[in-house]
Parts: sequence; C-alpha cells; structure tokens
Amino acid sequence: MMAHNPTVKNLVFIGFRGTGKSTLSAECARILGLERISTDERITERIGCSIAEFVAAHGWAEFRRIEHEEIQALQGITSAIIDCGGGVVENPENMRLLGDLGKILWIHAALEDVVSRLLQAEQGNEQKNEHRPLLSQGTMREDIEANYTRRLPMYECYAEVCVNTSLLGVKASVEEVCELFKQKNFSR
Ligand code: S3P
Repeated sequence: MMAHNPTVKNLVFIGFRGTGKSTLSAECARILGLERISTDERITERIGCSIAEFVAAHGWAEFRRIEHEEIQALQGITSAIIDCGGGVVENPENMRLLGDLGKILWIHAALEDVVSRLLQAEQGNEQKNEHRPLLSQGTMREDIEANYTRRLPMYECYAEVCVNTSLLGVKASVEEVCELFKQKNFSR
C-alpha cells in the first residue's frame, strides 16, 4: 500500500450510472491507500432516505441543490478518490470545484453494457426502493439512452482521461487507474 501523502491531491471519478465507478473507486482507493468518498453516500446520509425516495418527494432540482452543496463541502480534501453521481456534470460550477480538487477521470462503458447492468440492478432493488429514479420520461431503456447520449460530450469535455470499463473489464480498469495515478505529475 502506498504511504499516505498529504500533498497528494485527489482523483475525481465521473461517468454515467452503471459504468463501474463505485467498484473501481473502492478497489483503487484500497490499492492506492487513498480515502474513498462517494458523493451519493454523503447525500444519502444527509437526507436520511434513499435517493429514489427523496426525488419522489422533492424532485430532481432539490436533489441537485443538495448535491452541489456536498461538492462545495469537499473543498480542502486531499488524498482521496471522489466518486461522483452520474449527474454531477449537469452543473458547470460542480465541475469547476471538482477540477480544483484533482484530476478528473471519466469512467466509461458501452451503452449496451450500461443498459444491461442497470436493468439487472433494478430487478434486484425493486423491493428495497433503492432503484435509480428515472431522469426523464419514457421506459427505463429510453431514459438511459437519451441521457447517456446527451451527457457523453459533457463527460468527454470535463475529463482529462477516459477509462473504458467495457473494453478493459474491471481488473484491467483498476490497474489502468492505479498506473495513471502513479505516473509522474498525474496527481496534483
Ligand atoms: C444520477 C446518478 C446517481 C445518483 C442520482 C442521479 C444521475 O449516481 O447520483 O440517482 O443523474 O445520473 P450513480 O451514477 O452513482 O448511479
């Protein structure tokens, strides 16, 4: 495990739902000896219910407001992998703050992989009301396709590096992130 170095800044993971951000961030943080911060987990602790329940009661705008406050609250953090919810790119101010915190990595996956992972996850979570609430109208597949396509250029524009989990698989994606982190001048 790498020694904890307080001068090392952070890795920031962005990317669509179901691309593997949580799995990768947990594994890479463990290997690199960094703290893992999930903005969704911070939000869930704060609101005291699932994101699905919160959005059903208060709407997306209120969720985005809280998400922005949680991004603001990250200022001063070092030596962490910050795993962001897929919609963090919807607010340019979030991305300015995150860019100041460290290097932004886009965790990417092919649309078909995202669709099958999210549909599969949804089946397991139906009972617990832990599903990901739809972002727009239509069926789940239509919702995923529309938002995936709309957000793709946003992720591409904000990230310095892309890690494609569909091409690499989990193990090689983890290795790729760890290699990137170790490269001279990568973490700032
Ligand atoms: C969202 C993605 C979710 C969560 C919320 C909104 C989005 O995070 O923040 O449901 O807008 O795509 P994950 O990307 O971790 O699923």
